Amino acid sequence: MQRPLLFTPLKLRGVTAPNRCVVSPMVQYRATDGQLNDYHLVHLGKFALGKFGIIFTENCAVEPRGRVTQGDLGMWDDGQIEGHKRLTRFIQQEGSLAATQITHAGRKASSPRQFDKPDEFGPKGAGWERWQVVAPSALSAGERYSESPVALDVAEMDSIVRKFGEAARRADAAGYDVIEIHGAHGYLLAQFLSPLSNKRNDQYGVDRAGRMKFPLMAAKAVRENWPEHKPMFIRVSAIDGGGGWDVDDTVAYAQELKVLGIDVVDTSSGGLTGLSTALPVKRALGFQVPFAAAVKRGAKIPTMAVGLILDGPQAEKILQDGDADLIAIGRQALYNPFWPVHAAQEMGCDTDFSMWNPEYGWWLDKRKNNLPVERAATGQVK
Ligand SMILES: Cc1cc2nc3c(=O)[nH]c(=O)nc-3n(C[C@H](O)[C@H](O)[C@H](O)COP(=O)(O)O)c2cc1C
Repeated sequence: MQRPLLFTPLKLRGVTAPNRCVVSPMVQYRATDGQLNDYHLVHLGKFALGKFGIIFTENCAVEPRGRVTQGDLGMWDDGQIEGHKRLTRFIQQEGSLAATQITHAGRKASSPRQFDKPDEFGPKGAGWERWQVVAPSALSAGERYSESPVALDVAEMDSIVRKFGEAARRADAAGYDVIEIHGAHGYLLAQFLSPLSNKRNDQYGVDRAGRMKFPLMAAKAVRENWPEHKPMFIRVSAIDGGGGWDVDDTVAYAQELKVLGIDVVDTSSGGLTGLSTALPVKRALGFQVPFAAAVKRGAKIPTMAVGLILDGPQAEKILQDGDADLIAIGRQALYNPFWPVHAAQEMGCDTDFSMWNPEYGWWLDKRKNNLPVERAATGQVK
């Protein structure tokens, strides 16, 4: 049988992903002072054993003030490089690409964890404290978020742009193969893009070109500090969830990003305001795939699709239809860290378990012969 696209390699600049299955960035709130620890190594390392082609860390803040929560990973200090190195070494040793996402949360920083109750702020006894947050304009993101963000002045914006560049340099030093800017979900870059959160009257506001200026400066700084041979992604919210930023805007933005040397647009949606706002699109299988397709066709740039992609055939169809080049798996990877090798089994294209580490695969292949005939015949041994 012809090998599914999902399990064919993808070359991006000077690196090659062994397949198109990607672990989407997923924050765990387990860091102290932004340091990567054993928890992150095990949490992300298991996806390498599951044979995801690219494995993303959660969002790593470019400065402490830009963390979503106090437990987020950081990329703001050289002292954080060593912890990240442990992770990249392991992931690469197992044959996957190590990827990281860098971010500034702006007005959505200093938040409780998603599952914290209204009277909680972080883990019991950990002493988490809130801090002053910043934004394009002094407008709150709504309930759960700071009521009083401070509008950034131009000198501070320049400093944040530099910090994006420095974070890219550290990510390279830590050995990551891929970097992604988190420009989605209502974090700082998305706050600049949307007219609902950016009410500035200076050159960084007013119209679409003005509102795109700061995010493009950040992207440029990252590209300049990230090696030529390594690919750079950006995550966008194709629509902001409040009606201020739309797919047409995203296509125009992606065209500019492409000129700056961005290789893949990771196409998400929503998040500009708090949880009480209506979701921008109804949650259904592959609900954001049309955005990935629109950006891919409109801006002629590779895209990554994300959002309720659950199984191999669904993922394969997205690739076959030419709607995206990579498939990001979030919650389904939490449910099943072995998602790629299981999908390959179910699609009948790895009947000898050769996608697995030999330390697992050899035994599973041997076991196959001891299974009831009707199961062994299909190679489907789950
Ligand atoms: C636990 C968790 C943490 C997340 N953290 C991040 C993050 O750090 N950065 C990001 O861009 N998206 C984050 N997301 C969003 C996911 O990357 C993904 O886009 C979303 O869950 C939809 O994909 P899914 O339906 O496959 O889970 C997170 C999602 C989950 C479930």
